[in-house]
Amino acid sequence: MGKFITFEGPEGAGKTTVLELLMKELTEANSDIVFTREPGGILIAEKIRDVILNKDHIEMDSRTEALLYAAARRQHLVEKVIPAINSGRNVFCDRFIDSSLAYQGYARGLGIDEVHSINEFAINGVMPDLTFYFKIDPKIGLERIAASSEREKNRLDLEDLTFHQKVQEGYEKVIERYPERIVIINAEKSIEEVVAEVKQVLKENQLI
Ligand SMILES: Nc1ncnc2c1ncn2[C@@H]1O[C@H](COP(=O)(O)OP(=O)(O)OP(=O)(O)O)[C@@H](O)[C@H]1O
Ligand SMILES: [Mg+2]
Repeated sequence: MGKFITFEGPEGAGKTTVLELLMKELTEANSDIVFTREPGGILIAEKIRDVILNKDHIEMDSRTEALLYAAARRQHLVEKVIPAINSGRNVFCDRFIDSSLAYQGYARGLGIDEVHSINEFAINGVMPDLTFYFKIDPKIGLERIAASSEREKNRLDLEDLTFHQKVQEGYEKVIERYPERIVIINAEKSIEEVVAEVKQVLKENQLI
């Protein structure tokens, strides 16, 4: 069985940047790790992603949002993550259940337990073996995104700083729940330092 590793943290923390660098480096080293992302990773889930993040969808209800994330998660797990793990490959995934708990459960105010219960239905027992939490002052994350020309702003980026501070508080509550699974990375450091820290933990756990 392969291992399932997830990358979490607020907008602009550097998850995607670090995963792209790891993918380049490890693919060149002939590793057969599967790199994927949520919501998305396969056709049906990418379509759900477009519905969730579309800037025109300002009417979207918070519960609808939570259910769409859970639906995308289910399909992605069944089509991509579970088959990869069963074939012995490790899967590195950009966001997973902790994002829903922090964003919809806490920041949107739906309740971490409520959002956890719809996600339990979706994931049906498949939890990450290890999670990296990219810890960063949300203000710095938002500044990075504002300074980045290539990253188009989505519906959640348009939320204000108060929302992103609540996301951070939500993540802190999630970390309290799962202290063994979640490794905290100082994401305010340089990209090179963050990549090195992640690789160190991956090596310690014999995941690369
Ligand atoms: N450690 C870092 N130091 C400085 N800038 C960084 C660092 N990591 C990433 N960046 C820059 O910040 C911007 C956002 O990074 P990235 O898209 O990787 O964040 P993310 O965590 O994937 O965010 P989101 O959750 O919104 O997808 C990019 O322009 C990236 O180059
Ligand atoms: Mg990203």
